[in-house]
Amino acid sequence: MEGNDLEFAVNGERFIVNSVDPCTTLLDFLRSNTPFKSVKLACGEGGCGACLVVLSKYDPELDQVNESCINSCLTLLCSVNGCSITTSEGLGNTKKGFHPIHKRFAGFHATQCGFCTPGMCISLYSALANADNNTSKDSPPSGFSSLTVSQAEKSVAGNLCRCTGYRPIVDACKSFASDVDIEDLGFNSFWRKGESKEVMLKNLPPYNPKDHLVTFPEFLKKKSKEIKKLQHGLDHSRYTWATPFSVAELHNILEAANSRDSLKFVVGNTGTGYYKDEEKFDRYIDISHIPEMLMIKKDENGIEIGAAVTISKVIDALKEESKSPYIFKKMANHMEKTSNHFIRNSGSIGGNLVMAQSRKFPSDITTLLLAADASVYMLNGRKTKMVMLWEFLELPPVLDSKIVLLKVEIPSLTDSSGDDTELLFESYRAAPRSIGNALPYVSAAFCALVSHQTPSRRGVMVDKCLLAFGSYGGDHSIRATKVENFLMGKVLSYSVLYEAVSLLRGIIAPGKDTSQPEYRKSLAVGFLFNFFYPLIESGHRICSLDSGEKHSNSHVDPAKSLPFLSSAQQVFVSNEFQPVGEAVSKVGAALQASGEAVFVDDIPTLPDCIHGAFIYSTEPLAKIKRISFRENVTPTGVFAVLTFKDIPQQGQNIGSKTLFGPGPLFADELTRCAGQRIALVVADTQKHADRAAKLAVVEYDIQNLEEPILNVDDAVKRSSFFEVHPMFYPELVGDVLKGMEEAERKILSVEFRLGSQYFFYMEPQTALALPDEDNCVKVFSSSQAPEYAHAVIATCLGIPEHNVRVITRRVGGGFGGKAVKSMPVATACALAAHKLRRPVKMYLNRKTDMIMAGGRHPMKITYNVGFRSDGKLTALELTLLIDAGIEPDISPVMPRNIMGPLRKYDWGALSFDIKVCKTNLQSKTAMRAPGEVQGSYIAEVIIENVASSLRISVDAVRKINLHTYDSLRKFYKHIAGDPDEYSLPLLWDKLEISSEYKERAEMVKDFNLSNIWRKRGISRVPIIHQVMQRPTPGKVSILSDGSVVVEVGGIEIGQGLWTKVQQMVAYGLGMTKCKGSEKLMERIRVVQSDTLGLIQGGFTAGSTTSENSCEAVRLCCVILVERLKPTMDKMTKEKSGCVTWNMLIQQAYAQSVNLSASTLYKPELSSMEYLNYGVGVSEVEVDLMTGRSQILRSDIIYDCGKSLNPAVDLGQIEGAFVQGIGFFMMEEYTTDEKGLVVQQGTWDYKIPTVDAIPKHFYVEILNTGHHKNRVLSSKASGEPPLLLAASVHCATRSAVREARKQSLSWNCNDGNRDGPDTDFELPVPATMPVVKSLCGLYSVEKYLEGKICGK
Ligand SMILES: Cc1cc2nc3c(=O)[nH]c(=O)nc-3n(C[C@H](O)[C@H](O)[C@H](O)COP(=O)(O)OP(=O)(O)OC[C@H]3O[C@@H](n4cnc5c(N)ncnc54)[C@H](O)[C@@H]3O)c2cc1C
Ligand code: FES
Ligand code: FES
Repeated sequence: MEGNDLEFAVNGERFIVNSVDPCTTLLDFLRSNTPFKSVKLACGEGGCGACLVVLSKYDPELDQVNESCINSCLTLLCSVNGCSITTSEGLGNTKKGFHPIHKRFAGFHATQCGFCTPGMCISLYSALANADNNTSKDSPPSGFSSLTVSQAEKSVAGNLCRCTGYRPIVDACKSFASDVDIEDLGFNSFWRKGESKEVMLKNLPPYNPKDHLVTFPEFLKKKSKEIKKLQHGLDHSRYTWATPFSVAELHNILEAANSRDSLKFVVGNTGTGYYKDEEKFDRYIDISHIPEMLMIKKDENGIEIGAAVTISKVIDALKEESKSPYIFKKMANHMEKTSNHFIRNSGSIGGNLVMAQSRKFPSDITTLLLAADASVYMLNGRKTKMVMLWEFLELPPVLDSKIVLLKVEIPSLTDSSGDDTELLFESYRAAPRSIGNALPYVSAAFCALVSHQTPSRRGVMVDKCLLAFGSYGGDHSIRATKVENFLMGKVLSYSVLYEAVSLLRGIIAPGKDTSQPEYRKSLAVGFLFNFFYPLIESGHRICSLDSGEKHSNSHVDPAKSLPFLSSAQQVFVSNEFQPVGEAVSKVGAALQASGEAVFVDDIPTLPDCIHGAFIYSTEPLAKIKRISFRENVTPTGVFAVLTFKDIPQQGQNIGSKTLFGPGPLFADELTRCAGQRIALVVADTQKHADRAAKLAVVEYDIQNLEEPILNVDDAVKRSSFFEVHPMFYPELVGDVLKGMEEAERKILSVEFRLGSQYFFYMEPQTALALPDEDNCVKVFSSSQAPEYAHAVIATCLGIPEHNVRVITRRVGGGFGGKAVKSMPVATACALAAHKLRRPVKMYLNRKTDMIMAGGRHPMKITYNVGFRSDGKLTALELTLLIDAGIEPDISPVMPRNIMGPLRKYDWGALSFDIKVCKTNLQSKTAMRAPGEVQGSYIAEVIIENVASSLRISVDAVRKINLHTYDSLRKFYKHIAGDPDEYSLPLLWDKLEISSEYKERAEMVKDFNLSNIWRKRGISRVPIIHQVMQRPTPGKVSILSDGSVVVEVGGIEIGQGLWTKVQQMVAYGLGMTKCKGSEKLMERIRVVQSDTLGLIQGGFTAGSTTSENSCEAVRLCCVILVERLKPTMDKMTKEKSGCVTWNMLIQQAYAQSVNLSASTLYKPELSSMEYLNYGVGVSEVEVDLMTGRSQILRSDIIYDCGKSLNPAVDLGQIEGAFVQGIGFFMMEEYTTDEKGLVVQQGTWDYKIPTVDAIPKHFYVEILNTGHHKNRVLSSKASGEPPLLLAASVHCATRSAVREARKQSLSWNCNDGNRDGPDTDFELPVPATMPVVKSLCGLYSVEKYLEGKICGK
């Protein structure tokens, strides 16, 4: 095989790689060896979609190209031999023109930070290519794809986006669908409201499959022929990669292998996304070219599937199967919810089964195949052996042997016995995400042959059944044979089913480390009930499960029954300050979509660049005795290990700073929290640095140290607090004692807790430091606070600040996490670069990032509240214990932040005692709406409890306690603004009408009366959110050709700051009133922040940086216009008014007018703080069997003042709301007994995906006219709308209350396992297990008991 090179194409360019480490992934190669940086590394686990590419394979026999979308972070480079790869910049780019996908993403405002966008575009492209390469379909109308709306929505189901809230992305996708009603598409820059459909169509960037689908490079066809026809794999002498083309060849390779050699069979290599600790293997055997393992054979006996067939192809084959469509289609539907489309495109069925068999992988597929009575064929030596799947699962791990799984056989199960019998098949999975990209808590699949009984013995008999359960925490999927045997021959009845579920509870035995064991058991019970119950209820007639027409009281997966996403946006586009107020597309949106936008890690690396990774502590409080590597062997590629001892003598051990003091870069002799940085290991590649950090061994000593403080209660016992300056401790309001006396009712000493949240910015923390002459250092940092990073670096290195320069162009999502927490990353890189005199880059892997991020502040809340019997509040007393972690960070501001939004109701009187606790935990930091979201939510919890104790409508209690302007003044003092600025009552009433709140509340009641297993809740929540403007610099310079360059203190973190600034500069310079000045937008460029170019940039935080930066540049423009005025006046006279912008600037240059102006905008002290208002209504449906909450509809109305850019503000509102849904409903960010973060990646940290957003999502931005103290009357939008997501939580709580009421009614004896009553706390996040346990883990048994005892 000599001479066979690894050859492939990327975006049409040929690449030949002479030798390569077989572990090299496609992503490693693309990012390090090609100019194509659109593939982003966000998780490295196959869980996010940021790294997607299109893989095209040419089949010379059929002269056909097969395209699929795959992840590049797990795909091994050697497995793309002969293939063509297309990245987002390959679809279109700045030079050859953007692809319509890029243009539509830009026009639909579907990109914010842009880190997820190239991956999204590839997902959509792949869906279009799939639809449009399928020639059997009728051609779609001109300009559209054959894709349907439903396919378009699902096309990005596996991709994560943390910024947009997905709605605009879905609109961009749907705009290609042939069946879309174009009027249903959301707010965009292609057409204006009211324009005709013809205009809308004409303005959409045209799409034509002929022009816009990629073609396979001709030069690669020859290579593909060689591989396929001549069976040429890679040259063995240069690549440790074998490519057998037959089973015999595979056998020879195995026989030749040394018995001690570790072997790895490769198809998709997706398994490494889960088992990340896999070390390098001695031999890699690519089994994806063996025809026997790639075949799919169907006949009347069933279907045979080669083990190397990808799951996507299995799905297609099962869907096509005509002999036994019912069962096979059900299996296919279930498989479509496993993993995500790109993993299914590369992962094989065999790989899945082997992972389940040998490594306890919680596979859905084994569950499905068990219920279908499948068998597998194994190659062991020269022998092929067939075993039933259940037997295979019981064998010793095949991965420890040289056994190869060859194929799977699924028999054709048909009901041949006659008219009275019926074969039923159903499968279930309960996972944190309904349409995929999450492992299930339990999967189940049931197959049953049942017969109708004669009229005399009415009922349905179970002749035979196969009941499979998996993913529940056992060793592998199992058949519940005891239950099968029990049911066989029985006529179904309530008591038979009751006994069956009771038996099942004993069989489902999650392993000891499995989370939520009781929840998982109850899911299994629920699934079994779901399957058999309709057969009892429907009497002698079996309803068709296939059509989904189950009994009306049965559980139907709501995701199946709901329509497509629908949305509407109402925005006010103002032309008073044009182009400010226009819905201009985000600056560089198409560039972000094509992936050409440069993030820190995309900056080309210099050849001598080395890479860093942190070694962190796993102990909360311990002396560090020694740091070494496993077996005392320095891992490959390591250059140095730096600790606090390497900080220059004149420097300081500092890694961050805030107003409240510095934080250390490294632990000194003592580590003070798990996750604290102990050292930086520097190596030749990022992979080597990460591996070395993993292999580091830290020896600790905990003798003679006191116990660490790991919670707020211990902090109180040991008086461990951070000091809070009175400036950040709001004043108490009124006389609480008096208020309590006036109360007719009281709720006393209620306690509850709120947890943390992780940022999950798509771009992890990263920095690149370059040493420069004369002790200088230049650092590229993904930072929201470069000015602070700058100062920290200088202090750490002990050099003057003018020796440091920090540059930030854009940040791939920040949400507060790239402020304080970005500083140590930048500082560590700078330290290493300074010491080692080489460029140093660091790109945190997701696990390290999650461990070090700190996140949102957890807290414990205790309250007493007094109120009248009509719900009017009289007094609130609060005690708050905030967990700040080990360093102050920004935590001392938390009392102010929490109490701001909490004062949204008129409490009568308000007193509080807030302690900011210092604990041995990673320090918490500002996460979007830090403290505000908790404060606003705490108010809702109290209101809910007041209403619940009075048994009156919570909406009425909210309304009666909304502020009057007078009470607003009492609670907010001067921040309340003028009476006409208090828009909350108006918003409250407006939303009642637009959301049809009252009518829908009645409908919810009716729904709950007529549905047993689904309950709904609806809730309306107001918010008041206080923001503060801060001093911000700006600089505007006009260049000799009339183009304009702008610098601002604010950082573009996806929030559209640059776009608003650009609009403001165009408006400001437009005041010259010369010809052409109204078209200045395209001549303005906002450039990266450079801390030496523009000083005093401060933090980009608190929602007001956009408006502050806008005001700073507006002031610069005022100066420039003033300076240009004499020239303008003179020229106007001379040219009779016809002065163009270019003429004016040329003349000004000639006259040496200073055309660069800079300012530091300082807001007026008296008006720098102001209030933002909004109201949200959400309706949620809870599935009582699984605990899943689905948001049926959310309506938001938000007062944006006069929006500077309604498109940008809309994006902020929707994105914040969806991030809030994550906080309230999904995201668990917890620590273990040592304080180390438990969740470490996409497998266990679930941010919302497209299926989590409201099915109907209506947002209105209200223009409340003139606000004299605001920047051109605008208001902030970045954080406040996040608070509105509490409406989802409150609606869920209302639905749960209905479930508990119902459960009470089922009680037929005194025993009450679920202990339901209607006073309860719904924790945050209200995950499925939480909701289910409140609805009743034994609801099925209780219901059946009720039926049996005749209730
Ligand atoms: C993000 C993500 C989400 C997922 N979600 C789900 C889910 O919801 N439900 C679910 O069921 N699965 C899920 N999976 C698992 C997925 O289906 C498997 O990773 C995939 O099928 C493995 O196939 P592969 O070809 O990539 O295997 P590889 O990774 O190439 O191989 C896996 C292991 O099996 C061995 N192996 C592979 N083929 C054979 C063979 N024929 N004979 C012997 N040994 C073999 C290899 O040596 C290797 O050790 C998910 C995976 C990822 C990455
Ligand atoms: S980086 Fe590849 S899927 Fe997340
Ligand atoms: S735009 Fe999607 S992650 Fe930022």
